[in-house]
Amino acid sequence: MAQNTPIAGSPAVFNIDQSGKWPILLTCMPGLEDLVSRQICAEYPQYTVSETRRGKVFLRVCATIRDLCEIRCADNLYLLLREFEVGRVKEDLAGLSRAISGTDFAPLHALLPRGKKTFRVAVSASRSGDHTYSRYQAAEAALQALLRLDKTFAAGSPDDSDINFRLDIVGNLASFSMKLTTASFRYRGGARMFMPGAIRPSIANVMVWLSQPNDSDIFLDPFCGSGTIVSEREHYAAGKIFASDLSDEAVAATKNNVSPRVVVTKADACRLRFQNGAITTIVTNLPWDVQVRAGEGAEALYADFLRSAHRVMARASKMIVLTGRERAWEDACVRCQTSFAKLAVLSLHGLHPALYQVEIPR
Ligand SMILES: C[S@@+](CC[C@H](N)C(=O)[O-])C[C@H]1O[C@@H](n2cnc3c(N)ncnc32)[C@H](O)[C@@H]1O
Repeated sequence: MAQNTPIAGSPAVFNIDQSGKWPILLTCMPGLEDLVSRQICAEYPQYTVSETRRGKVFLRVCATIRDLCEIRCADNLYLLLREFEVGRVKEDLAGLSRAISGTDFAPLHALLPRGKKTFRVAVSASRSGDHTYSRYQAAEAALQALLRLDKTFAAGSPDDSDINFRLDIVGNLASFSMKLTTASFRYRGGARMFMPGAIRPSIANVMVWLSQPNDSDIFLDPFCGSGTIVSEREHYAAGKIFASDLSDEAVAATKNNVSPRVVVTKADACRLRFQNGAITTIVTNLPWDVQVRAGEGAEALYADFLRSAHRVMARASKMIVLTGRERAWEDACVRCQTSFAKLAVLSLHGLHPALYQVEIPR
């Protein structure tokens, strides 16, 4: 759905199937599905997680779209309209069109803005399997079916439409969904500054949740970059929130992205300037990728950071760390006699950063 679409702000309570619950598809970074579904169950017990697949979590909910937009660990949210079988050759696209034509769009009109005569619609498709058609051909077949089905629909493009549909084909199974969220949901509005190496807000949100936030936390991200993690931490009560980075640019970006209650300073994470035992929680995304080169020095940097963190962290405190240099991190932990648990391995454009939990002993 395009930005500012009235659907995203609709307070209409929807209620589509016999159980009174709508099927919702939540997308997240592949590798994070299990943690995201655990987080949803813990934070939103009124929603039911029915299934997970790569990069997808399926929910059944009775809620408003506005309620659903509170789910900060999601990249995007879709209303799952139907799942159907689809063949593998070009001629089967006619069957795909028929299946989409069989979708009952009448209930969806309750979600659309009143007084508008036409809605620009677009279809994005993904396809995996040995089909003789491309994802673009599948998307076009779906779009033409929609235009025939509903006279209020006109062709738009994914960047310029009132309603975005999503068609996912995996082997013989197709699922067809309508997007409920906009880019501003995924990127937390348009005013944020993102620096190279910034993580998605949804990942930062999962990391913060894993740290079990509570209102007495003295929280620190010592490699804050543009402040995505502390910005997510601000949504929970805290004793104090600190962010620091070596780079002036990062410090300025973080100050732009957070409220004045976050204390942002320029500091070396390997020489943290807090009193011994002052910090109860560290959640951080270590420098590791091509934009933020830790290079050959990663293990030494990580070990220096760990020694500094051990000094400033309270007993029985917790650290959640994301890094693409698994080996360097694990070696540094061994070198610093720090026990760690690997929680997940993510999949990001061919890279596989891992998420770790470190417990500081009691
Ligand atoms: C992967 S980025 C963090 C990105 C951040 N999570 C975000 O979403 O914008 C790592 C950051 O570590 C910073 N950095 C590298 N070495 C550092 C050090 N010794 N002390 C503090 N910050 C350092 C870099 O300037 C960079 O901003």
